[in-house]
Amino acid sequence: MLLEIEDLGKTYGAVSALSGVSLAMDEGEVVGVCGDNGAGKSTLMRIVAGAQPPSRGAVRLRGKPVRFTGPRDALTAGIAAIYQDLALAVDQSVYQNVFMGSELVRRSWVPGLRTLDKRAMRERSREYLARLGIELESVDAPVNRLSGGQRQAVAISRALRWEAALVIMDEPTAALGVREKARVLDLVRKLKETGVSVLLVSHNMDDVVAVTDRVVILRGGRLQGEVATADIDADRLSHMVMSGRMQ
Ligand SMILES: Nc1ncnc2c1ncn2[C@@H]1O[C@H](COP(=O)(O)OP(=O)(O)OP(=O)(O)O)[C@@H](O)[C@H]1O
Ligand SMILES: [Mg+2]
Repeated sequence: MLLEIEDLGKTYGAVSALSGVSLAMDEGEVVGVCGDNGAGKSTLMRIVAGAQPPSRGAVRLRGKPVRFTGPRDALTAGIAAIYQDLALAVDQSVYQNVFMGSELVRRSWVPGLRTLDKRAMRERSREYLARLGIELESVDAPVNRLSGGQRQAVAISRALRWEAALVIMDEPTAALGVREKARVLDLVRKLKETGVSVLLVSHNMDDVVAVTDRVVILRGGRLQGEVATADIDADRLSHMVMSGRMQ
């Protein structure tokens, strides 16, 4: 099992944002997380991604208990989160964004001096994008010249740079047009093809049904239930989320 979440809970003062949530994910599995506003989806995602500590419960990665002290800690362990704003430096180049904060360096001919290995960073950026089925004219182009779907691919490439085994995405298609949305869903499929697991938080039932293997539904911070995507369609899922019932 890649990821095991057991009896996870999170309180903010008197507010219980998450309570008694357990969930397991296999390598290469795409799991959707649905639920109404305030159901605890982002809270769950932030805890798994190391952005917040849980108030109780355990997270295990490949059987080993983990307690992340921050997002960087989770990244190093192989869990990358992509938030809605993508956290890209839009006036910097594609390759600079992919390697931001973790640049490749090489020794220079001057003893003790290290310089950025731009060639390697460009090359590897192209590789990651190719893996995602994205062709860009140049990895030197600033991100602000890219479309929404292409930006999403840059953010995912950053996850690939860390060899992420799990990519968590919060509402990745919310701000996108129809075509761009289809591209982002393709990116999710590509990740799965390469053995990467995806936890997809979304209000869009069509998207969830289109790319996931399984869906978990949260309600009031609790796990309402879990269903195989093959057994439902978007209407059915939407009904489950709204009614609070799994039939
Ligand atoms: N930092 C915080 N401080 C206090 N309460 C919070 C905080 N973050 C979340 N909450 C509360 O926790 C609950 C779950 O919030 P969360 O953001 O996880 O829901 P969500 O399912 O992501 O909702 P949405 O669909 O609107 O994004 C809500 O009641 C919310 O008000
Ligand atoms: Mg949210």
